[in-house]
Amino acid sequence: MEQYVIKGGTPLVGEVTIAGAKNAALGILAAAVMTDKECIIENVPNVRDTRVLLQAIKEIGATVKYIDEHTVSICGGTIRNIDTLCVDDEFIRKIRASYYLLGALLGKYKRSQVALPGGCDIGSRPIDLHIKGFEALGAHVTVGKGMVTATADRLVGKHVYLDKISVGATINIMMAAVFAEGKTTIENAAKEPHIVDVANFLNSMGANIKGAGTNEIRIRGVKELKGTEYSIIPDQIEAGTFMMAAAATDGNVLIKNVIPKHLEAISSKLTEIGATVEEYDDSVRVIGCHGKRLRPTQIITQPYPGFPTDMQPQMAVTLGLSDGTSVISENIFENRFKYTDELARMGARIKVEGNMAIISGVESYSGATVVAPDLRAGAALVIAGLAAEGFTVIEDIKYIQRGYEKFEEKLRDLGGQIEIVETEKEIIKFKLKVG
Ligand code: EPZ
Repeated sequence: MEQYVIKGGTPLVGEVTIAGAKNAALGILAAAVMTDKECIIENVPNVRDTRVLLQAIKEIGATVKYIDEHTVSICGGTIRNIDTLCVDDEFIRKIRASYYLLGALLGKYKRSQVALPGGCDIGSRPIDLHIKGFEALGAHVTVGKGMVTATADRLVGKHVYLDKISVGATINIMMAAVFAEGKTTIENAAKEPHIVDVANFLNSMGANIKGAGTNEIRIRGVKELKGTEYSIIPDQIEAGTFMMAAAATDGNVLIKNVIPKHLEAISSKLTEIGATVEEYDDSVRVIGCHGKRLRPTQIITQPYPGFPTDMQPQMAVTLGLSDGTSVISENIFENRFKYTDELARMGARIKVEGNMAIISGVESYSGATVVAPDLRAGAALVIAGLAAEGFTVIEDIKYIQRGYEKFEEKLRDLGGQIEIVETEKEIIKFKLKVG
């Protein structure tokens, strides 16, 4: 099984270019099947989740071509057997975003059947709000035998109030409403940058969506969508992860191909704890504390534009090295502190009480063998390993590879000493090589 082996203690210095946003790409790739024409989508991150979703889109009959590593062509016009269409394979059940095909296929064909979504184990991950939205538009939804099936004679625009702010439900209902008769309003909608990106993509195909990025999105049904060419926005969370890594290793990194506005919550917290953040048009530079320890702070995860839950583990690792007590309140998912046990093996002092983590900063972490419990926690453990003294081995890196493209390569280009290994022998070889 692949593992990361890391020798910590080297500040990250240099430049890194951020890939396309995974969580925008997953919605956009699914939405592309809503037209029978060709869509050319650029800046698609080459990560496991996008490859798995593209494979599923191909399996239902769409024509999928890789134009280059980050550009794909999708043509939904070749999808057949609408009445028996079913998105289900061992891989699609592992990713959360498989459910976007529910909304896209329901919207286009008034019928869709998709395996119940998987995804990181950070909470119960229900899809009741997605179903509530589909049913409001007139669909009949059943869940059984590990599948969700949605069918409708007609889809008619309605006012949908989301009891909870949900990224997935907002995107899914937006897609299901694209061809619905009349006007659909999604109230209490999520406002993440990737919601806006999916809405912009659909509008570039001829959809009529207004208000994306606010808490009220209005969709007017249209008759059909045309093909388009579109480039996905940069990944806010990949950028934030490298920003945190620069601060935690007391480095100096220019993070390129970003939208600084999307990073405001992260930048302001890094500044608050003593790092320096310089903002440019499409890049940010993060500089550590020049040998001094970072300061503690309080973090409350919130839907955008609040501090993103997907940056919570990476922030905790950084605060674990600060010179005081910090408190993190996780308000989005109910099980997102699993990594603290792994971090404790590296010397972190974190006490979890319900949805709060009380972090007592330590001088340094010491390398250990740890297991990545999920995507963002895995990235956080990599940051801990880079900041730690000695060697760290991280197991189960498949989670990390779901959401970060060439993660270890980009870190090595910044001076990080990290490699993918598979055997004890390779770990020893790495240790001898780096000394
Ligand atoms: C998306 O997950 C992202 N995943 C997550 O990123 C991200 O953490 C999350 O949004 C919040 O920003 C993708 O985009 C593929 P939600 P999603 O629906 O859509 C509850 C990563 O690391 N809820 O906004 O599943 C839910 O339990 C991943 O890239 C319901 O109760 O998140 C949670 O408590 C991890 N009923 C809250 O809402 C529903 O029907 C927010 O979930 C749907 C959600």
